[in-house]
Amino acid sequence: MVERGSDSRPGRSGSAAAGPDQSLYRPGLEGVPATQSAICDIDGHLGQLTYRGYDAATLAARSSFLETAFLLVWGELPTADQLEQFEQEVQMHRRVSFRIRDMMKSFPSQGHPMDALQASAASLGLFYSRRALDNPEYIYGAVVRLLAKIPTMVAAFQLIRKGQDPIQPRDDLPYAANFLYMLTEREPDPLAARILDACLILHAEHSLNASTFSARVTASTLTDPYAVVASAVGTLAGPLHGGANEDVLTMLEEIGSEDRVELWLDRAIANRQKIMGFGHREYKVKDPRAVILQRLAEELFERFGHDPMYDLARRLEEIAATRLGPKGIYPNVDFYSGLVYRKLGIPCDLFTPIFAIARTAGWLAHWKEQLGANRIFRPSQIYTGCAHRDWQPLEAR
Ligand code: SDX
Repeated sequence: MVERGSDSRPGRSGSAAAGPDQSLYRPGLEGVPATQSAICDIDGHLGQLTYRGYDAATLAARSSFLETAFLLVWGELPTADQLEQFEQEVQMHRRVSFRIRDMMKSFPSQGHPMDALQASAASLGLFYSRRALDNPEYIYGAVVRLLAKIPTMVAAFQLIRKGQDPIQPRDDLPYAANFLYMLTEREPDPLAARILDACLILHAEHSLNASTFSARVTASTLTDPYAVVASAVGTLAGPLHGGANEDVLTMLEEIGSEDRVELWLDRAIANRQKIMGFGHREYKVKDPRAVILQRLAEELFERFGHDPMYDLARRLEEIAATRLGPKGIYPNVDFYSGLVYRKLGIPCDLFTPIFAIARTAGWLAHWKEQLGANRIFRPSQIYTGCAHRDWQPLEAR
């Protein structure tokens, strides 16, 4: 049974509904708790991130993305049997209907992969729209299908937009390795697959960020989980959110060389330009995920060769610390992630779709949690428009 949330509505103390409490207004809901959640905790001052009480850095080093996804959705690390069954179910559901592949073939090849992903994720609802939200089997099935099919759809559009037919998943490859195989048509180096799996863990969940808030609002109307994920994908695409990882690379390419960093940065700050990959609503220190992603990038450079753009990024971080550090503005998760993906040979406009593959785990955890104590989101507003006025016929205007 989808449980109703507690009835603690303001202005409901027996009197008629009072107007909005204007003292509660915060632009962007900054600092306003909009839900209760047991999934993820962030300490923005200490730079700490935990998933269901486990340190995200430890999970990135020792867990797998599917084990972490299970933990996020069901709240406990799986037993060996549970994990084996979950991995097998996800593997069995990786394929995507030919109807969806044919639909993707009608998309313009120059379209952004995030738009292709949002459209194809929503289309899953046409195949599985039956909504049995109070049935744990339905919830389990939806979690398996979305985790399984989102990577396949990202990889399919990549091949389709190159004029090729998408290739079928390889059942003998684990999650991240299979994604890289479907994307590149080559079996990936084990180190590359392991590092991508760690990146997926680091991007899997981050409390009530914009796209997860979208997911919870959409979930609260009791629509199907495919619409929930499609709503979140659209939100993640924005450059102030998940889209920043792609823009960081564009920014670094625009700077061009280490000796141009200081002038470029001072000019950008003077123009009140947001430096992509910097700043965070929660973190007032360097994002702990950026610290780990930097180490993963260095591990890749040791094996596959250095990337001079990394030196440029580090120079930018060093100088930005003097200009923006005093305001608590430091690198966030998007600052180094693109350099990892670039070294893995992944095209820049697929960085955010990879973020979406990972965050599908967090969105689904919040979808399930919302259903457990649901109350449709319907905040109030402070009306700033015109007072009542009479209609003016055209000739009188
Ligand atoms: C993600 O919420 C999450 O958890 C998101 C995420 C997740 O895992 O889901 O962590 C993923 O979205 C990371 C963020 C990726 N976005 C970017 O890198 C884009 C650049 N960053 C900024 O747009 C900004 O920092 C935000 C959007 C991330 C946070 O914005 P806030 O908290 O609303 O901060 P703000 O815009 O109110 O800025 C406060 C001050 C302003 O200066 P003043 O007007 O007070 O003088 O800080 C300045 C801003 O100008 N500022 C920046 C800046 N970010 C904030 N100045 C320069 N460059 C920046 N990046």
